[in-house]
Amino acid sequence: MNSLKNRVFLTLLDFTPEEIDGLLRLAASLKQKKKAGESHRLCEGKQLALIFEKTSTRTRCAFEVAARDLGMGVTYLDPSGSQIGKKESIADTARVLSGMFDAIEYRGYGQEIVEELAKYASVPVFNGLTDEFHPTQILADFLTLREIFGALKGLNFVYMGDARFNMGNSLMVGCAKMGLNFTACSPAGYFPNAALVSRCEKIAAETGATLRFCEDPDEAVRGAQAIYTDIWVSMGEPDSVWEERIKALSPYQVTKELMAKASKDAVFMHCLPAYHDKKTAIGKEKCEKFGRDSMEVSNEVFEGPQSVVFQEAENRMHTIKAVMAAILGGAQA
Ligand code: CP
Ligand code: NVA
Repeated sequence: MNSLKNRVFLTLLDFTPEEIDGLLRLAASLKQKKKAGESHRLCEGKQLALIFEKTSTRTRCAFEVAARDLGMGVTYLDPSGSQIGKKESIADTARVLSGMFDAIEYRGYGQEIVEELAKYASVPVFNGLTDEFHPTQILADFLTLREIFGALKGLNFVYMGDARFNMGNSLMVGCAKMGLNFTACSPAGYFPNAALVSRCEKIAAETGATLRFCEDPDEAVRGAQAIYTDIWVSMGEPDSVWEERIKALSPYQVTKELMAKASKDAVFMHCLPAYHDKKTAIGKEKCEKFGRDSMEVSNEVFEGPQSVVFQEAENRMHTIKAVMAAILGGAQA
């Protein structure tokens, strides 16, 4: 892989398949080191700022633990506890933080915000989720797939549900880059936008990936080796969209019956958090209001033998560590 030293990490569109492969190999080797208890302080003494304008469990913990394992210090700026956006612009924040930190992670709303931050910052910026993209999540998902299937190229990957938002977009980009057969299975109007599809089609033509957009769940999952879904209402969306989403996306819920129509070796994947039961405040409220037991995935599938969701969650840390080790520490796979 080329050195990724001092690159920004905003979307996988900016990285070649070789660079993504290098990051996955580096993540696998750092995971081994962590499990073996071998020190890997590749960014000793560096400082990381974490800006979270939306809430998080996995991404925040992954960045914090990875940074500490690499020998770095971390400062967390929560959705309400800083001047960002209220009293200070993104451009000014970028220049202030660049004077104190070696890198900045940003989670928030539009992709243009993280791009603005990167434009004005003089240190690398990492995208920890925007409305459009969630690139560190895709690295974790692909590391998980590699651990299970040995390789990514040619895998039949199906994304079920609302494919217009960060997860549908980023998985399509990742699959196109790494040569998977990607299917978005959604109702009409819920597919990724035409400009991104056309960009991904050009990438797919070079990598051997295929892209398919299908409204019929039974047809979509035939031969599928990975079935992926995400919540139906994302962070930052108004409460009022729940009703239309449930109506449109109910036929796309991942159930045991649907999994049975996929390949025998198929795995179930989800970026989490998931509404698979009524054990959360929002899950309970919405399930009771709309007369359901679960939303995008049934509890049986979530808890079942094909589910690899917690392996994905752990891999968030190893892959984010690889991104920082390569960009800040110059590590190669
Ligand atoms: N998958 C993911 O990004 O989880 P968090 O929202 O908990 O960070
Ligand atoms: N689409 C979800 C992903 C969470 C990791 C959201 O943006 O809330």
